[in-house]
Amino acid sequence: MRQLKLMATTLVLASLLSCGKKAGEQTRDSIIETKVEQLLSKMTLEEKIGQMNQISSSIKLEEMGPAIKRGEVGSILNEAEPQRINALQNIAVEESRLGIPLLIARDVIHGFKTIFPIPLGQGASFDPDVAYQGARVAAVEAASVGIRWTFAPMIDIARDPRWGRISEGCGEDSYLTSVMGAAMVRGFQGDSLHLASSIAACPKHFVGYGAVEGGRDYNSTYIPERLMRNVYLPPFKAAVEAGATTFMTSFNDNNGIPSSGNQLILKKILREEWGFKGFVVTDWGSAQEMITHGFAVNDKDAAEKAVNAGVDMEMVSHMFVEQLPQLVKEGAVSETTIDNAVRNILRVKFQLGLFENPYVDTTKPSVMYDEAHLLAAKRAAIESAILLKNKNNTLPLSNKIKTIAVVGPMADAPYEQLGTWVFDGEKSHTQTPLAALKKIAKERNMRVLYEPGLAYTRDKSTQQFRKVTNAAKRADAVIVFVGEESILSGEAHSLANLDLQGAQTALIEALKRTGKPLITVVMAGRPLTIEKEVNLSDAVLYSFHPGTMGGPALADLLTGVATPSGKTPITFPKMVGQIPMYYSHKNTGRPATRNETLLDQIPVAAGQTSLGCTSFYLDAGFDPLFPFGYGLSYTTFAYSNILLSATKLQKKDVLTVTFDLKNTGDYKGTEVAQLYIQDKVGSVTRPVKELKRFKRIHLLPGQTEKVTFELPISELAFCNIDMKEVVEAGQFGLWVATDSNSGKELSFEVVR
Ligand code: NOJ
Repeated sequence: MRQLKLMATTLVLASLLSCGKKAGEQTRDSIIETKVEQLLSKMTLEEKIGQMNQISSSIKLEEMGPAIKRGEVGSILNEAEPQRINALQNIAVEESRLGIPLLIARDVIHGFKTIFPIPLGQGASFDPDVAYQGARVAAVEAASVGIRWTFAPMIDIARDPRWGRISEGCGEDSYLTSVMGAAMVRGFQGDSLHLASSIAACPKHFVGYGAVEGGRDYNSTYIPERLMRNVYLPPFKAAVEAGATTFMTSFNDNNGIPSSGNQLILKKILREEWGFKGFVVTDWGSAQEMITHGFAVNDKDAAEKAVNAGVDMEMVSHMFVEQLPQLVKEGAVSETTIDNAVRNILRVKFQLGLFENPYVDTTKPSVMYDEAHLLAAKRAAIESAILLKNKNNTLPLSNKIKTIAVVGPMADAPYEQLGTWVFDGEKSHTQTPLAALKKIAKERNMRVLYEPGLAYTRDKSTQQFRKVTNAAKRADAVIVFVGEESILSGEAHSLANLDLQGAQTALIEALKRTGKPLITVVMAGRPLTIEKEVNLSDAVLYSFHPGTMGGPALADLLTGVATPSGKTPITFPKMVGQIPMYYSHKNTGRPATRNETLLDQIPVAAGQTSLGCTSFYLDAGFDPLFPFGYGLSYTTFAYSNILLSATKLQKKDVLTVTFDLKNTGDYKGTEVAQLYIQDKVGSVTRPVKELKRFKRIHLLPGQTEKVTFELPISELAFCNIDMKEVVEAGQFGLWVATDSNSGKELSFEVVR
């Protein structure tokens, strides 16, 4: 008998393990499923629908309390005050009939108190550990006040810097965003979701929002299903695989269907194809906005369409509580649909351990701005900064520089350097470049002359310029900090003109005229069109809003304590008219040759076809200002002996690429080595290049390292002419290089 029992246990364990999950997790999962079913069986229809309702903290407490008590609220967003959170939780747990705890949510995007670089900056680090640590620190700080759910990571692929929200994602590339987004999911959710320091992640915005027409926020998108599957969906799939427990729908209507009513993406792809077990929340009022879109007649119609499409929870618009009881009665929404939505929500609440520990411990010492958090934020800001130009090794500042002029509206702008989505970040804790440079100057016996010149980035007045140029004339080098105030990027902050605002360019021109070495540091929420400023400057360091520790990070980089290693996570256009511009474009039938005749070279009365019939702009040519993956270092790197394990591979094989990377310069430094491929001929046309791997490699001067990339051929799959995800046999190009525009092409073949 004992023997039999043992065998049975072994069999159960074996089958649990075969599902790819650890036995402990499986057991916990099945216990949770049982609990969910038990609870669900006790719930009235109204209580079920209540779980599907998320309200905003702006609702008056007198209204909120009774609604929670009646079981009409599943989640509250925007609470951040622990005593209040505990009080609300107490009503839910002690006074509602079934005592189901609330899920407290907030936008903790790139930090709670300790602010990390904006996600676009984190993308520039090409370092998943930066993304992981950023999310982990954010989770630890946010969870300490009772927030257990964040609306992040934002993993929208965005190829139009006019769109203000480009700052919130990791840039234009599907693979980079997949890797970084998955790391963020893991960081937020920690080792196990039920730990008090873990918060549920919410990959957003599902899906296609980054492709809004003309970069105008909330606009329509036209992404065909194949492009959707090849470019926009992979980061979300990676987020599911990383264990993301919730998803948020997007505001856009894609090809006529608003995401909150889109069965293809919410049901077929997310649930059926990817097996997502968490819950889906709408964006703020986005289900109700289906009425404005002209997709639903009224609240009732919108609620029906959203729930039947696969939405589980509604953010703030209350249509579910108001309309679903009647819709169920009429049979327009089945109770099974409601049950499934509630199951998805309760499952996450159980996973978070909210039933056992609904309250936040307010007696614990504060974890805000912990020394380790600040250090991690500084490291992230260092790795995120991109050196775009460094003529004659202007940087790092040599010891011969005894006086520096620190100028510009972003040199000492503690709020502006934090970037978008910083509800909780405090400017009093921000360390600015001016403060950090002054500190280093003291240690180095260097003098700092500070003249902002402009009060803020949109300031058009040149009145203070004389003071600035006087300071510059007295200095050995000038560092001008320009860019965008944080309000100029983020949600609903799109721009049609991406030049530096206000009189910032005029300031750079005035400084250039002093003849002093000119170092421009840009802090912004997007790539700006800075061709002119790059030409005027001797060195340019680009830092997407770098957060709390941006100052010390930039000061270390400028003075050579650290070496830049960031790479552009997005193509920098020369001018707005080139947008959209991205490295992973198609070849077209008439690709640019780069020998085209440009505007100033065109003879008068030139013949119609004499300019070359290729795909380029007469006034901007073909190339961007800086390609994807670009970034310099104080040292130099050489790639050699690039070898492929085989040149003919089968679909089940793994291609191993090895190469030697040598630090050929005088500084220790870090190179982000990148592996690109091109599928030469497909059943549908394929991009000219696709990033498939990247690695940060640290090297001392003169040091060489053998680097290996492993690329399973299965990762060359794409959505083909039959809408099937397959690897197609044929020739492939391969590059191992320092950016998307460099390297020598190698080739291999995938055989049938
Ligand atoms: C609207 C934004 O689109 C979304 O990203 C955010 O999470 C929600 N508001 C909640 O604040």
